[in-house]
Amino acid sequence: MIEKDKFLIKLFKQENQKLFSNSVRVFFILLRIKIYCIFFFLGTFLGYSSLRIVTQLPTDALFITIEANSESVKTARSIHEYAGVADRIKIINGDTQNVIPRLSTDFHIDSFDLIFIDHYKEVYLRDFKILEEVGLIKSETMIVADNVITPGAPDYLEYIRTNPNYITKLYEAKLEYREDLVDGIEISIRK
Ligand SMILES: C[S@@+](CC[C@H](N)C(=O)[O-])C[C@H]1O[C@@H](n2cnc3c(N)ncnc32)[C@H](O)[C@@H]1O
Repeated sequence: MIEKDKFLIKLFKQENQKLFSNSVRVFFILLRIKIYCIFFFLGTFLGYSSLRIVTQLPTDALFITIEANSESVKTARSIHEYAGVADRIKIINGDTQNVIPRLSTDFHIDSFDLIFIDHYKEVYLRDFKILEEVGLIKSETMIVADNVITPGAPDYLEYIRTNPNYITKLYEAKLEYREDLVDGIEISIRK
């Protein structure tokens, strides 16, 4: 067995080690049901979730992820290289509010199939509105926002739940590492 496969198998066995909240597991189930091709991820950090997610996508899927911290970007890239998926994940080092407006020109795309929001909770709403303004959310785009209860993104939740353009639902679960704290992902689809 080659090194990268051993690495991936070890990673997937970590399911029970509370590295992911239950809500993110719900999201993985969703990924298995539908094939997404153009995927956008806000907040790469060390590349763990992006590595897990890309292995669920078709090999020709476009997967773009943004991270503001350049040290985190370097670590994420080396983890992706080690896992043999670096050529499938485009990490952009920058702040989401500067990067999002350039995406459609830089990647020749007109919308995303799936957007995963997991950066600073205070800017979920700001960046969501930028995505709407630049036209990257179209009919059937799915938006998954993590940790909407703890630490919480109340302004984002209010906006998406009162917006007639979206069907939206909270998938409640416990926060990773903390059985006593309720959290959840909000999954929304543009009508
Ligand atoms: C919760 S961590 C992401 C964890 C990652 N999604 C995972 O599960 O492996 C949040 C990350 O978002 C990044 N971040 C926060 N605000 C950002 C912004 N406006 N633009 C780009 N990155 C941002 C932080 O530097 C941090 O690495």
